[in-house]
Amino acid sequence: MIVKTENLSREFVRGKNQFYAVDHVNLEVEEKELVAIMGQSGSGKSTLFHMLTGILKPTEGKITVLDHEIEKMNDRQLSVLRGGDLGYIMQGKNLLQNLTVMENILLPLSLGKNRKPDKERITYLTELLGIQNMLSEYPANLSGGEQRRVAIARTFAQNPKLVVADEPTSSLDMENSEIIMKYFQKMAKEGTTILVSTHDREFANYADRCLWMKKGKLEKRELE
Ligand SMILES: Nc1ncnc2c1ncn2[C@@H]1O[C@H](COP(=O)(O)OP(=O)(O)OP(=O)(O)O)[C@@H](O)[C@H]1O
Ligand SMILES: [Mg+2]
Repeated sequence: MIVKTENLSREFVRGKNQFYAVDHVNLEVEEKELVAIMGQSGSGKSTLFHMLTGILKPTEGKITVLDHEIEKMNDRQLSVLRGGDLGYIMQGKNLLQNLTVMENILLPLSLGKNRKPDKERITYLTELLGIQNMLSEYPANLSGGEQRRVAIARTFAQNPKLVVADEPTSSLDMENSEIIMKYFQKMAKEGTTILVSTHDREFANYADRCLWMKKGKLEKRELE
């Protein structure tokens, strides 16, 4: 098992209300699976992903990712993991603006365990994603979809065993979304386990499995 959570919960307090953003979630993801988690805005997808990757501590429950007990690890151990076997593509824009595309792609490699960049792999990834001609550009000169593809290339360049991607296709046109979904499908076939959150029902055609998040609870129901 690559990912396993047991009664994973996160409570927040807002005003006088205490509520579960993630409510006793039991999630299991097997090796090489591409699993999509769908759910409305505010349903708890990012909160779940922040806990899986050690950015946010749970208020209850257990998380095992790649044989690590995530909630027991310290920040240094977590950042080594996130620069190596665990790639996290966060929601929204997350490139460093004062680094070129190539410098952005190489950045996690300097933090993780795979210290040597694999030039062949990077060429392969950037060509698959169609960003090979932009490597010396700065992110500001790229479209939103291109920037998203750079962030994805950066994560796969660290050669992770598991990729957690939070809404990688949100606010992109169909063409860009398709490039990304096809890419994820290909990388899963080649051996990377991928967990993705999305509003995009099209992802159902590419994922091995779809789960639904509703008010913090994870449901295993078929698409309507
Ligand atoms: N730090 C926080 N403090 C208080 N409430 C929070 C905090 N972070 C998130 N929430 C709340 O928890 C709920 C889940 O938020 P989350 O960001 O996980 O949703 P999401 O499913 O990722 O939504 P979206 O699709 O819009 O990204 C929301 O009601 C949000 O307002
Ligand atoms: Mg979110």
